Amino acid sequence: MSDRIRWGILSTGNIAAAFAEDLRLLPDAELAAVGSRSTEAAETFAAKHGAARAHGSWRALVEDPDVDAIYVATPHTAHYEAAMLALRAGKATLCEKPFTLAVGEAEELVETARSGGVFLMEAMWMRCIPAVRRMIELAGDGAIGEVVSVHADFGMQGPFPETSRLRDRRLGGGALYDVGIYPVTFADLFLGRPSSVQAWARMSAGGVDENTGMLFGYDSGAVAALTCSLLGDSARRATVTGTLGRMEVARDFFHPAGFTLWRGESAEHIDLPFEGRGYQFEAAEVHRCLREGLPESPLVPLSDTLAILRILHEISGKIGLDYSS
Ligand SMILES: NC(=O)c1ccc[n+]([C@@H]2O[C@H](COP(=O)([O-])OP(=O)(O)OC[C@H]3O[C@@H](n4cnc5c(N)ncnc54)[C@H](OP(=O)(O)O)[C@@H]3O)[C@@H](O)[C@H]2O)c1
Repeated sequence: MSDRIRWGILSTGNIAAAFAEDLRLLPDAELAAVGSRSTEAAETFAAKHGAARAHGSWRALVEDPDVDAIYVATPHTAHYEAAMLALRAGKATLCEKPFTLAVGEAEELVETARSGGVFLMEAMWMRCIPAVRRMIELAGDGAIGEVVSVHADFGMQGPFPETSRLRDRRLGGGALYDVGIYPVTFADLFLGRPSSVQAWARMSAGGVDENTGMLFGYDSGAVAALTCSLLGDSARRATVTGTLGRMEVARDFFHPAGFTLWRGESAEHIDLPFEGRGYQFEAAEVHRCLREGLPESPLVPLSDTLAILRILHEISGKIGLDYSS
Protein backbone atom coordinates (compact mmCIF):
# COMPACT_ATOMS: atom_id res chain seq x y z
CA MET A 1 0.00 0.00 0.00
CA SER A 2 1.36 3.43 -0.96
CA ASP A 3 1.95 6.18 1.58
CA ARG A 4 -1.28 7.82 0.52
CA ILE A 5 -4.67 6.22 -0.07
CA ARG A 6 -5.73 7.26 -3.56
CA TRP A 7 -9.47 7.93 -3.72
CA GLY A 8 -11.78 7.82 -6.69
CA ILE A 9 -15.14 9.54 -6.22
CA LEU A 10 -18.02 8.07 -8.19
CA SER A 11 -20.53 10.82 -9.12
CA THR A 12 -20.40 14.58 -8.79
CA GLY A 13 -23.33 15.65 -6.58
CA ASN A 14 -23.63 17.42 -3.23
CA ILE A 15 -22.17 14.79 -0.95
CA ALA A 16 -19.40 13.91 -3.42
CA ALA A 17 -18.25 17.54 -3.18
CA ALA A 18 -18.43 17.61 0.65
CA PHE A 19 -16.45 14.38 0.88
CA ALA A 20 -13.82 15.69 -1.56
CA GLU A 21 -13.31 18.80 0.57
CA ASP A 22 -13.03 16.84 3.85
CA LEU A 23 -10.46 14.48 2.29
CA ARG A 24 -8.11 17.48 2.32
CA LEU A 25 -8.06 17.18 6.12
CA LEU A 26 -6.35 13.77 5.93
CA PRO A 27 -2.63 14.09 5.21
CA ASP A 28 -2.51 10.53 3.86
CA ALA A 29 -5.47 10.93 1.47
CA GLU A 30 -5.21 11.83 -2.19
CA LEU A 31 -8.15 12.67 -4.45
CA ALA A 32 -6.82 10.80 -7.46
CA ALA A 33 -9.85 10.68 -9.73
CA VAL A 34 -13.54 11.30 -10.21
CA GLY A 35 -15.98 9.38 -12.39
CA SER A 36 -19.31 10.56 -13.71
CA ARG A 37 -21.96 9.65 -16.24
CA SER A 38 -20.63 12.60 -18.24
CA THR A 39 -17.07 13.66 -19.04
CA GLU A 40 -18.03 17.30 -18.70
CA ALA A 41 -19.34 16.89 -15.14
CA ALA A 42 -16.26 14.87 -14.18
CA GLU A 43 -13.92 17.52 -15.57
CA THR A 44 -15.75 20.35 -13.82
CA PHE A 45 -15.67 18.46 -10.51
CA ALA A 46 -11.99 17.54 -10.92
CA ALA A 47 -11.03 21.14 -11.61
CA LYS A 48 -13.01 22.44 -8.64
CA HIS A 49 -11.91 19.85 -6.08
CA GLY A 50 -8.40 19.07 -7.29
CA ALA A 51 -8.81 15.53 -8.62
CA ALA A 52 -5.92 14.48 -10.84
CA ARG A 53 -8.03 12.57 -13.39
CA ALA A 54 -11.61 12.90 -14.68
CA HIS A 55 -13.36 9.84 -16.12
CA GLY A 56 -16.51 10.01 -18.22
CA SER A 57 -17.76 6.60 -17.09
CA TRP A 58 -17.98 4.62 -13.85
CA ARG A 59 -16.12 1.72 -15.46
CA ALA A 60 -13.15 3.90 -16.43
CA LEU A 61 -12.99 5.14 -12.84
CA VAL A 62 -13.10 1.72 -11.16
CA GLU A 63 -10.54 0.36 -13.63
CA ASP A 64 -8.12 3.25 -13.01
CA PRO A 65 -5.01 1.39 -11.76
CA ASP A 66 -3.93 4.39 -9.69
CA VAL A 67 -7.02 4.37 -7.49
CA ASP A 68 -7.11 2.38 -4.21
CA ALA A 69 -10.60 3.16 -2.91
CA ILE A 70 -13.90 4.17 -4.49
CA TYR A 71 -16.50 6.35 -2.77
CA VAL A 72 -19.97 5.72 -4.23
CA ALA A 73 -22.11 8.88 -3.92
CA THR A 74 -24.93 8.40 -6.41
CA PRO A 75 -28.66 8.44 -5.51
CA HIS A 76 -29.66 5.31 -3.53
CA THR A 77 -31.06 3.47 -6.54
CA ALA A 78 -27.66 3.48 -8.29
CA HIS A 79 -25.60 2.30 -5.27
CA TYR A 80 -25.92 -1.38 -6.14
CA GLU A 81 -24.72 -1.08 -9.72
CA ALA A 82 -21.90 1.32 -8.88
CA ALA A 83 -20.65 -0.55 -5.81
CA MET A 84 -20.83 -3.89 -7.64
CA LEU A 85 -18.71 -2.46 -10.47
CA ALA A 86 -16.13 -1.21 -8.00
CA LEU A 87 -16.01 -4.49 -6.03
CA ARG A 88 -15.71 -6.58 -9.20
CA ALA A 89 -12.79 -4.37 -10.23
CA GLY A 90 -11.21 -5.30 -6.88
CA LYS A 91 -11.46 -1.79 -5.43
CA ALA A 92 -12.05 -1.10 -1.74
CA THR A 93 -15.50 0.51 -1.66
CA LEU A 94 -17.12 3.03 0.64
CA CYS A 95 -20.80 3.20 -0.37
CA GLU A 96 -23.25 5.89 0.69
CA LYS A 97 -26.19 5.10 2.91
CA PRO A 98 -28.57 3.41 2.43
CA PHE A 99 -26.44 0.70 0.81
CA THR A 100 -29.45 -0.35 -1.30
CA LEU A 101 -33.22 -0.21 -1.06
CA ALA A 102 -33.72 -3.96 -1.50
CA VAL A 103 -32.16 -6.05 1.28
CA GLY A 104 -31.27 -8.79 -1.22
CA GLU A 105 -29.10 -6.38 -3.24
CA ALA A 106 -27.18 -5.37 -0.12
CA GLU A 107 -26.67 -9.04 0.73
CA GLU A 108 -25.26 -9.58 -2.77
CA LEU A 109 -22.81 -6.70 -2.34
CA VAL A 110 -21.65 -8.10 1.01
CA GLU A 111 -21.31 -11.60 -0.46
CA THR A 112 -19.33 -10.26 -3.44
CA ALA A 113 -16.98 -8.32 -1.16
CA ARG A 114 -16.46 -11.23 1.22
CA SER A 115 -15.96 -13.88 -1.45
CA GLY A 116 -13.59 -11.63 -3.40
CA GLY A 117 -11.68 -10.49 -0.31
CA VAL A 118 -12.44 -6.85 -1.17
CA PHE A 119 -13.06 -4.22 1.51
CA LEU A 120 -16.60 -2.79 1.66
CA MET A 121 -18.10 -0.31 4.13
CA GLU A 122 -21.32 1.70 4.40
CA ALA A 123 -20.69 5.45 4.56
CA MET A 124 -22.59 5.69 7.84
CA TRP A 125 -20.29 8.51 8.96
CA MET A 126 -22.18 9.03 12.25
CA ARG A 127 -20.61 5.84 13.59
CA CYS A 128 -17.08 7.24 12.99
CA ILE A 129 -17.62 10.65 14.66
CA PRO A 130 -15.43 10.82 17.81
CA ALA A 131 -18.23 12.14 20.07
CA VAL A 132 -20.58 9.33 19.02
CA ARG A 133 -17.84 6.77 19.61
CA ARG A 134 -17.27 8.22 23.08
CA MET A 135 -20.98 8.00 23.89
CA ILE A 136 -21.01 4.34 22.90
CA GLU A 137 -17.96 3.67 25.09
CA LEU A 138 -19.55 5.44 28.06
CA ALA A 139 -22.81 3.53 27.67
CA GLY A 140 -20.83 0.27 27.40
CA ASP A 141 -18.94 1.15 30.59
CA GLY A 142 -22.23 1.63 32.43
CA ALA A 143 -21.85 5.41 32.88
CA ILE A 144 -25.62 5.89 32.66
CA GLY A 145 -26.65 2.48 33.99
CA GLU A 146 -28.95 0.26 31.98
CA VAL A 147 -30.20 2.04 28.84
CA VAL A 148 -33.99 2.28 28.97
CA SER A 149 -34.80 4.65 26.10
CA VAL A 150 -33.47 6.40 23.02
CA HIS A 151 -35.10 9.45 21.44
CA ALA A 152 -33.85 10.83 18.11
CA ASP A 153 -35.33 12.89 15.30
CA PHE A 154 -34.13 14.05 11.90
CA GLY A 155 -36.42 16.43 10.05
CA MET A 156 -35.52 18.72 7.16
CA GLN A 157 -37.32 21.87 6.16
CA GLY A 158 -39.57 21.42 3.13
CA PRO A 159 -41.02 21.89 0.73
CA PHE A 160 -38.56 20.22 -1.63
CA PRO A 161 -39.12 20.84 -5.34
CA GLU A 162 -41.02 18.19 -7.27
CA THR A 163 -37.79 17.47 -9.19
CA SER A 164 -35.76 16.69 -6.02
CA ARG A 165 -34.51 13.09 -5.68
CA LEU A 166 -35.97 13.22 -2.16
CA ARG A 167 -39.49 13.25 -3.61
CA ASP A 168 -38.87 10.88 -6.48
CA ARG A 169 -39.86 7.28 -5.69
CA ARG A 170 -37.89 6.02 -8.71
CA LEU A 171 -34.71 7.45 -7.13
CA GLY A 172 -35.49 6.03 -3.68
CA GLY A 173 -37.00 9.27 -2.36
CA GLY A 174 -38.71 9.71 1.01
CA ALA A 175 -37.63 10.51 4.55
CA LEU A 176 -37.03 7.02 5.91
CA TYR A 177 -34.12 5.86 3.75
CA ASP A 178 -32.53 9.29 3.44
CA VAL A 179 -32.66 10.68 6.97
CA GLY A 180 -34.66 8.15 9.04
CA ILE A 181 -31.74 5.76 8.71
CA TYR A 182 -29.82 7.99 11.18
CA PRO A 183 -32.21 7.74 14.17
CA VAL A 184 -32.73 4.03 13.41
CA THR A 185 -28.95 3.43 13.37
CA PHE A 186 -28.49 5.60 16.47
CA ALA A 187 -31.02 3.53 18.43
CA ASP A 188 -29.28 0.37 17.25
CA LEU A 189 -25.93 1.60 18.56
CA PHE A 190 -27.29 1.76 22.11
CA LEU A 191 -30.04 -0.85 22.19
CA GLY A 192 -29.31 -3.39 19.48
CA ARG A 193 -32.12 -5.07 17.57
CA PRO A 194 -35.74 -4.32 18.48
CA SER A 195 -38.22 -7.12 19.05
CA SER A 196 -41.19 -4.93 18.14
CA VAL A 197 -41.37 -2.24 15.42
CA GLN A 198 -44.34 0.12 15.04
CA ALA A 199 -44.48 2.93 12.49
CA TRP A 200 -46.82 5.49 10.97
CA ALA A 201 -46.23 7.92 8.11
CA ARG A 202 -47.83 10.58 6.00
CA MET A 203 -47.21 9.49 2.41
CA SER A 204 -46.79 11.91 -0.49
CA ALA A 205 -48.91 11.79 -3.63
CA GLY A 206 -45.82 10.33 -5.33
CA GLY A 207 -45.75 7.41 -2.90
CA VAL A 208 -42.83 8.25 -0.60
CA ASP A 209 -42.94 8.85 3.16
CA GLU A 210 -42.61 12.51 4.14
CA ASN A 211 -43.30 12.51 7.89
CA THR A 212 -42.64 9.30 9.77
CA GLY A 213 -42.81 8.14 13.38
CA MET A 214 -41.31 4.91 14.70
CA LEU A 215 -41.63 3.19 18.06
CA PHE A 216 -39.35 0.26 18.82
CA GLY A 217 -39.62 -2.15 21.77
CA TYR A 218 -36.80 -4.34 23.06
CA ASP A 219 -36.71 -7.58 25.00
CA SER A 220 -34.99 -5.72 27.87
CA GLY A 221 -38.08 -3.52 28.23
CA ALA A 222 -36.31 -0.52 26.65
CA VAL A 223 -38.02 1.67 24.04
CA ALA A 224 -36.91 3.95 21.19
CA ALA A 225 -39.05 6.81 19.87
CA LEU A 226 -37.77 8.07 16.53
CA THR A 227 -39.01 10.44 13.83
CA CYS A 228 -37.92 11.66 10.41
CA SER A 229 -39.42 14.24 8.10
CA LEU A 230 -39.11 16.06 4.80
CA LEU A 231 -41.73 18.59 5.93
CA GLY A 232 -40.39 20.26 9.05
CA ASP A 233 -36.99 21.32 10.39
CA SER A 234 -37.04 19.37 13.67
CA ALA A 235 -34.53 19.90 16.51
CA ARG A 236 -32.47 16.91 15.26
CA ARG A 237 -31.53 16.00 18.80
CA ALA A 238 -30.91 12.67 20.46
CA THR A 239 -31.09 11.45 24.05
CA VAL A 240 -29.95 8.15 25.47
CA THR A 241 -31.46 7.59 28.91
CA GLY A 242 -30.31 5.03 31.43
CA THR A 243 -31.16 4.08 35.00
CA LEU A 244 -28.30 6.26 36.36
CA GLY A 245 -28.31 9.24 33.98
CA ARG A 246 -28.53 10.28 30.34
CA MET A 247 -26.52 11.57 27.42
CA GLU A 248 -27.96 14.42 25.37
CA VAL A 249 -26.79 15.49 21.93
CA ALA A 250 -27.85 18.91 20.68
CA ARG A 251 -28.72 19.81 17.09
CA ASP A 252 -27.51 17.48 14.36
CA PHE A 253 -26.97 14.49 16.62
CA PHE A 254 -25.48 12.54 13.71
CA HIS A 255 -22.26 14.59 13.62
CA PRO A 256 -21.80 16.21 17.02
CA ALA A 257 -18.61 17.76 18.33
CA GLY A 258 -19.75 16.99 21.86
CA PHE A 259 -22.59 15.97 24.16
CA THR A 260 -23.79 16.39 27.73
CA LEU A 261 -23.59 13.60 30.28
CA TRP A 262 -26.17 14.02 33.03
CA ARG A 263 -26.06 12.14 36.32
CA GLY A 264 -28.82 13.39 38.59
CA GLU A 265 -28.66 17.18 38.50
CA SER A 266 -24.99 17.23 37.58
CA ALA A 267 -24.14 17.92 33.94
CA GLU A 268 -20.74 17.41 32.30
CA HIS A 269 -20.18 18.69 28.79
CA ILE A 270 -17.79 16.48 26.84
CA ASP A 271 -16.16 17.84 23.66
CA LEU A 272 -14.14 15.81 21.19
CA PRO A 273 -12.01 16.75 18.18
CA PHE A 274 -14.01 17.90 15.18
CA GLU A 275 -13.00 19.63 11.95
CA GLY A 276 -14.55 20.31 8.58
CA ARG A 277 -17.93 18.70 8.00
CA GLY A 278 -16.88 15.42 9.60
CA TYR A 279 -16.66 13.14 6.55
CA GLN A 280 -12.90 12.68 7.05
CA PHE A 281 -13.57 10.39 10.00
CA GLU A 282 -15.22 7.72 7.84
CA ALA A 283 -12.44 8.08 5.25
CA ALA A 284 -9.86 7.68 8.03
CA GLU A 285 -11.61 4.48 9.13
CA VAL A 286 -11.27 3.13 5.57
CA HIS A 287 -7.56 4.06 5.63
CA ARG A 288 -7.06 2.29 8.95
CA CYS A 289 -8.77 -0.88 7.74
CA LEU A 290 -6.81 -0.96 4.47
CA ARG A 291 -3.49 -0.39 6.23
CA GLU A 292 -4.24 -3.04 8.86
CA GLY A 293 -5.52 -5.47 6.22
CA LEU A 294 -8.95 -5.72 7.86
CA PRO A 295 -11.54 -7.30 5.55
CA GLU A 296 -14.36 -5.20 7.06
CA SER A 297 -14.62 -2.24 9.43
CA PRO A 298 -15.25 -3.23 13.06
CA LEU A 299 -16.64 0.28 13.56
CA VAL A 300 -19.18 0.01 10.73
CA PRO A 301 -19.80 -3.74 10.51
CA LEU A 302 -21.49 -5.07 7.39
CA SER A 303 -23.71 -7.24 9.61
CA ASP A 304 -25.10 -4.04 11.20
CA THR A 305 -25.59 -2.43 7.78
CA LEU A 306 -27.71 -5.42 6.73
CA ALA A 307 -29.61 -5.53 10.04
CA ILE A 308 -30.54 -1.83 9.76
CA LEU A 309 -31.75 -2.34 6.18
CA ARG A 310 -33.96 -5.20 7.40
CA ILE A 311 -35.47 -2.89 10.03
CA LEU A 312 -36.07 -0.19 7.40
CA HIS A 313 -37.74 -2.83 5.22
CA GLU A 314 -40.03 -3.82 8.09
CA ILE A 315 -40.94 -0.15 8.66
CA SER A 316 -41.60 0.27 4.92
CA GLY A 317 -44.10 -2.57 5.07
CA LYS A 318 -45.96 -0.88 7.92
CA ILE A 319 -46.19 2.53 6.25
CA GLY A 320 -46.88 1.34 2.69
CA LEU A 321 -43.54 2.45 1.22
CA ASP A 322 -42.76 0.26 -1.78
CA TYR A 323 -39.89 0.78 -4.22
CA SER A 324 -40.28 -2.58 -5.94
CA SER A 325 -42.32 -1.44 -8.95
N1 LIG B 1 -23.51 11.10 4.43
C1 LIG B 1 -24.26 12.19 4.30
O1 LIG B 1 -24.23 13.11 5.10
C2 LIG B 1 -25.12 12.32 3.10
C3 LIG B 1 -25.66 13.56 2.79
C4 LIG B 1 -26.38 13.69 1.62
C5 LIG B 1 -26.59 12.57 0.84
N2 LIG B 1 -26.07 11.36 1.19
C6 LIG B 1 -26.28 10.18 0.34
O2 LIG B 1 -25.50 10.36 -0.83
C7 LIG B 1 -26.21 9.95 -1.98
C8 LIG B 1 -26.24 11.11 -2.97
O3 LIG B 1 -26.89 12.21 -2.40
P1 LIG B 1 -26.64 13.71 -2.96
O4 LIG B 1 -27.43 14.58 -2.05
O5 LIG B 1 -25.20 13.97 -3.13
O6 LIG B 1 -27.38 13.60 -4.37
P2 LIG B 1 -27.20 14.55 -5.62
O7 LIG B 1 -26.70 15.88 -5.23
O8 LIG B 1 -28.44 14.43 -6.40
O9 LIG B 1 -26.00 13.86 -6.45
C9 LIG B 1 -26.04 12.56 -6.91
C10 LIG B 1 -25.10 12.44 -8.11
O10 LIG B 1 -25.27 11.13 -8.64
C11 LIG B 1 -25.32 11.19 -10.06
N3 LIG B 1 -26.69 10.82 -10.46
C12 LIG B 1 -27.79 11.59 -10.49
N4 LIG B 1 -28.85 10.91 -10.91
C13 LIG B 1 -28.41 9.68 -11.15
C14 LIG B 1 -29.05 8.51 -11.60
N5 LIG B 1 -30.35 8.49 -11.91
N6 LIG B 1 -28.32 7.40 -11.72
C15 LIG B 1 -27.01 7.43 -11.43
N7 LIG B 1 -26.34 8.53 -10.99
C16 LIG B 1 -27.05 9.63 -10.85
C17 LIG B 1 -25.04 12.59 -10.48
O11 LIG B 1 -23.65 12.67 -10.73
P3 LIG B 1 -23.11 12.57 -12.25
O12 LIG B 1 -23.95 13.50 -13.05
O13 LIG B 1 -21.70 12.96 -12.14
O14 LIG B 1 -23.27 11.15 -12.71
C18 LIG B 1 -25.42 13.39 -9.25
O15 LIG B 1 -24.70 14.58 -9.17
C19 LIG B 1 -27.58 9.49 -1.50
O16 LIG B 1 -27.62 8.09 -1.45
C20 LIG B 1 -27.72 10.06 -0.08
O17 LIG B 1 -28.41 9.18 0.82
C21 LIG B 1 -25.34 11.23 2.30
